[in-house]
Amino acid sequence: MHPRADLPHEFPSGDPVGPSVPLQPVKKILFLNGPNLNLLGTRQPEIYGRDTLASIEASVQERARVLGVSVEFRQTNEEGQLVTWIQQAKGSVHAIALNAAAYTHTSIALRDAIAAVELPVIELHLSNIHARESFRHHSMIAPVCRGQISGFGALSYILALEAAVKVN
Ligand code: DQA
Repeated sequence: MHPRADLPHEFPSGDPVGPSVPLQPVKKILFLNGPNLNLLGTRQPEIYGRDTLASIEASVQERARVLGVSVEFRQTNEEGQLVTWIQQAKGSVHAIALNAAAYTHTSIALRDAIAAVELPVIELHLSNIHARESFRHHSMIAPVCRGQISGFGALSYILALEAAVKVN
């Protein structure tokens, strides 16, 4: 039997309301940004590029719309605020994409928070931390993160979004 022309073709002809499969809740990805990332655009552009954090967020939001996920973007210069946001994310987001900036290299508190919440966390950096000063080669948080994206400039954020959406 041919589907009736007056009904939407993707639905079975007997079900004009819609498909019977339950709708999945929209996945939420939380982007957390640490100290000095509010200065992007003017901060050492030869290392971090000329994109501002607002323009990076805009491109992440654009990609998120295509992927059908929701993104929340935050920045703070304070270590304790990052710890609090990670704690609060438990149970309310699918994954976290974290550019912990300099706290990447120093913060046992962040590492403990990530381990405690048992959420997939994607570590991300604009610059390639392994190609820079030796004190940046060590990441305190890497062992408790799902993976690391480092060195692709603003594209690191889009790659982190792609990874965050797919991890379980
Ligand atoms: C950074 C790299 C860190 O070493 C540095 O302290 C930052 C930014 C990056 O995105 O490349 O502030 O996380």
